[in-house]
Order: sequence, then structure tokens, then C-alpha cells
Amino acid sequence: MFVRSKMLSWAATAAAVAGLSAAVPAQAQETVKIGLILPMTGGQASTGKQIENAIKLYMQQNGDTVAGKKIEILLKDDGAVPDKTKTAAQELIVNDKVNFIAGFGVTPAALAAAPLATQAKIPEVVMAAGTSIITERSPYIVRTSFTLAQSATIIGDWAAKNGIKKVATLTSDYAPGNDALNFFKQNFTAGGGEIVEEVKVPLANPDFAPFLQRMKDSKPDAVYVFVPAGQGGNFMKQYAERGLDKAGIKVIGPGDVMDDDLLNNMGDAALGAVTAHLYSAAHPSQMNKDFVAAYKKAFNSRPGFMAVSGYDGIHLIYEALKKTGGSTDGDKLIAAMKGMKWESPRGPISIDPDTRDIVQNIYIRKVEKVDGELYNVEFATFEAVKDPGKTKK
Ligand code: PHB
Repeated sequence: MFVRSKMLSWAATAAAVAGLSAAVPAQAQETVKIGLILPMTGGQASTGKQIENAIKLYMQQNGDTVAGKKIEILLKDDGAVPDKTKTAAQELIVNDKVNFIAGFGVTPAALAAAPLATQAKIPEVVMAAGTSIITERSPYIVRTSFTLAQSATIIGDWAAKNGIKKVATLTSDYAPGNDALNFFKQNFTAGGGEIVEEVKVPLANPDFAPFLQRMKDSKPDAVYVFVPAGQGGNFMKQYAERGLDKAGIKVIGPGDVMDDDLLNNMGDAALGAVTAHLYSAAHPSQMNKDFVAAYKKAFNSRPGFMAVSGYDGIHLIYEALKKTGGSTDGDKLIAAMKGMKWESPRGPISIDPDTRDIVQNIYIRKVEKVDGELYNVEFATFEAVKDPGKTKK
């Protein structure tokens, strides 16, 4: 069975890392089950892979026993299709009796699972999706990723204050794309900026080329781009092919388009792109240097913002279990998560006790070449940013 073979391969990796000769699962120990629902196939697969990797790494580093209980991960691939997310969550809750559901590579997936978390009274830990409304859909949702509003407002202000007067926008045509667009527009136009062209591209297999020509013709100072993790490489390839870089049109946006996972393969067209985001592989803390080195060693690739969101998601689950003394009562776990604060590879973060959403630094970064590799180099920090997208109650 897919789930079982996945679990065995996880045990084998952990054993190999620990220098053990064979993976012998503990028998009589009580287990805590985490149903991890991620896109492991399809257009969002890089998100699933990053989160799976980061959770493996965390468990290698911190062990698979918390508060006397063995942690068991049951991974299901939903391909980022919300109907499949729902079926996966139902099976995990009803048949496998999981104590948590976690992951959720896209907003529609996180939303599809929300009523099930409420009904089962178990935490839904959102490790990827970024639309503001998600945490309002169930009192059992806690988020360790980000909201688009956190970055879009900050880059909107920055652009208006830094000589960018005309912007053409390109956003993925679904909920987080709309958040990315609306929060940027609100702040950028309030600062005196003008939107000269607005295009929305489909989420699945977008062809950017026809839109890029239109954007180039509108002669903006910059293109503001939101595409979800995994699509940035393709966007930048077509941006360069259409000669927008040569025409002096800058790329700005939330940092999703400049995912560290893909950045190094984008080539020099990415140089100078300025984005606001929660995480850079170049974040200059010792903790992040260690995280990047360990991730690279284990998986031979660079961690991006989805990896760090997964790493923090599993940390939140471990720490909540420690606080409840191993109790898996959903209400106790949610109470334990509210207000929790810790140091992440991205910097200091916490869970807002009122909204259960993440509070984190947002950094403005510019793509530069460092030792022959492309990095998002942070040059300004906005501390402890709450989600600006929450509806006022
Ligand atoms: C989302 O669907 O909420 C989403 C996915 C990938 C991103 C950002 C948001 O990079």
C-alpha cells in the first residue's frame, strides 16, 4: 500500500541517518498519527516534495518519539485537487483515526478539509496554502506557512516609495492570486502608483507568453507577479524569452516566483528581482545556515519557503504534544498552539492566539549572485507581521 511503503521508506531513511543497520518499528508503544496530505504529483509537486523532505529532516534531527508517544506519518497524495483532499482527509480520519491532518499545498485543498477538521475536532496544520480566509474556516486550523497579504502589502509600499510608478500585474487566477493582487494594488495605488495592465493566468499549466507580450507593450516600470511555488522557473524563462529583462522591466512580487528551490536555475534574467517574503535560503542566521546545510546534505537540493513552512509545522505539532503531555485531545492541542513562539530558520515566529495564523518577519530581498549562485539577499526587515487580511470582527 502506498502509505505503508512510504512509512517504511521513512523509517529506513531515519535508521540510515542514525547509523542503524535496520529499521525496527516499535511495537507496543502508543502512537500519534499525523495524516499528511500533499501534492506529490502534478503541477504543485515541488511543494509536496519540499514539505515531505523538511518533515523527514526534522524527525531525523529530533527523533520520532514525543511525550512518550511514537509519531507516525501517513502521507497521501492529493495532486492539489480538492476533491481528492477531501477523500484523503475522510479516509485518514475515519479509517486511520489520525490525530492531526496537515500539509495542504494549495488553498482549495486547505478549505476542502476544514469542515472535516471541525467535525472530528482535530487540528488541521496548514503548511503551504496562503489565502487569508483559510484560518477563519475552522477553529481547528493553525497555519505555519504565510499569507499573501503579509508580503503583498509590504512590496506594494516598497514599490511606491522606490521609484516604481507603473506596474503591470500577472497573478494566478485563484484565491491566493486574488489576495496577492488586491493587497498589492491597495498599498501601491495608495502610495501613488498606477496599474497599467492586469492579467490573470490559469493555475494549471499556464502559458505566460501571450500575456507577457501584452505586459511588455504596456511599458511598465515593473511586472508584479504571483505564481504559486513551482511555477517561477517557467515564468522567468518566458519573461527572458520575450525580452522583458532587456526592455528594463523589473520583476517584483511576493517571493513565491523567486522560490529558492528553483532560483539557481533561472539564470541571469532573475538578477535584480525584488520580492517581499518570509524566507530566504540566504537568511544570515546560524540556525538557517545549519538548516540549509542539513537539507542540502540529505536531499541534494536547496530548501525553499515551503520546506521551512513544513519544518515549522512539524515543530508546532511536537511542541504542542509536549505541552499537552502527549494528550491528543484536539481542543487541548489547539490551546497549546495558540501563542506559541519559537526561532525558525526563517527568523522568530509565533502563532497569533486570536487568529491561529502565523506572525513572522517579512523581508525585502533582491536577487544577487553570491559565490556563483543566485540568492534572494535580504536588505530590509519588517518585524512580527500579522496577517493584514483578516476580516475585522
Ligand atoms: C495557495 O494555493 O494558497 C498557494 C500555493 C502556493 C503558493 C502560495 C499560495 O506559493
